[in-house]
Amino acid sequence: MAKLTEIGWEEFSGLSLDEKSPYLARCEGDGLPYHTLFAQQFDRPLLERLCALANRIRFINKSKEGALYLKSVLAHKRAMLYFSQPSSRTFLSHLAACQILGITTGSVRDAATSSEFKGESKEDSIRTFSSYFDMIIMRSPEQGLAEKMAWELSNSDRPIPILNAGSGKDQHPTQALLDIYTLIRSFENKGGVDGRMVVFCGDLLRGRTVRSLSYLLTNFNDVKQVFIAPKELQVSDDVIAILKKKGVRYEISDDLKAGVKAADAVYMTRIQDEWDSTKGASAKIETSHFKFGAEELKLLKPDGCIMHPLPRRDEIATCCDRDPRAMYWRQMRNGMWIRAALIAATFGYERAIMDCGY
Ligand code: NCD
Repeated sequence: MAKLTEIGWEEFSGLSLDEKSPYLARCEGDGLPYHTLFAQQFDRPLLERLCALANRIRFINKSKEGALYLKSVLAHKRAMLYFSQPSSRTFLSHLAACQILGITTGSVRDAATSSEFKGESKEDSIRTFSSYFDMIIMRSPEQGLAEKMAWELSNSDRPIPILNAGSGKDQHPTQALLDIYTLIRSFENKGGVDGRMVVFCGDLLRGRTVRSLSYLLTNFNDVKQVFIAPKELQVSDDVIAILKKKGVRYEISDDLKAGVKAADAVYMTRIQDEWDSTKGASAKIETSHFKFGAEELKLLKPDGCIMHPLPRRDEIATCCDRDPRAMYWRQMRNGMWIRAALIAATFGYERAIMDCGY
């Protein structure tokens, strides 16, 4: 089995994501990740396993006895939420997921309140956290930092798992998991996700949720991906290269109305202007045609889905919010369950939950 302790950082960081994945596995043959860093670690059987576990946790949690059982499952574990970028949903849903499983948590939400402010390196900070906790859930503006931290910890005397809760413009694997879980549930009794058309719209260049979800969708059969954005914010070449390599049907477009008409799911995103190199650069881009409103709602199929990782600005009009096809509220709650599933599985408690008597 490939181990992070047997490869230097330079060599590891030079590998492709597919080559990195085996180094991040929990143990030989069980298919689960130990460190969850990017979407390329998930294949279809694993996605289906995690969705089944999330459904199970959701069901068990309905009764008081079941909820108390779940709270005992990982009551001996502590998790650290290390978020050096703004977050509401990702932070809170991970926190709630830990609470469901009985995990005690600690958090740093602003590096200015930790010793990083005094000049401590991130490597030293992470080793500090690992002295007190059994898992680190981290979000950072720096692409690749979660990988570096995973390598550091695996090569330390406290090798604990890292869960990437958003890394720069690059990846957001747990958001993609909740998006897939939402799609699977939405199309559960309607023929499933295979053969569907998913339309991505908005800032596809800098949206990490799009990058991770686009990859996860390649695990399904014949799902067409359509990328609708102003040309300045179109999806990057590396995403397209993956689709080409995997023989996935895709289209690049700037026509949201046409996309919505044909779509089974429309995944709207916010303009990620925090990444602008000059302040106000995004505001100069014409984005008015990339908003979902009353007219688009009329064009959407009766069993279509409107999705958004949130937070939104005005890219989905509030008049859509009560439509049964608006899935963005459900996505949030699904995030809590699928994150609980991932955390439980990472700690090796998948069977204990699946097979319990509740
Ligand atoms: C997203 C993110 O942080 O990438 N938010 C989230 O985690 N739900 C999307 C965004 O900020 O636009």
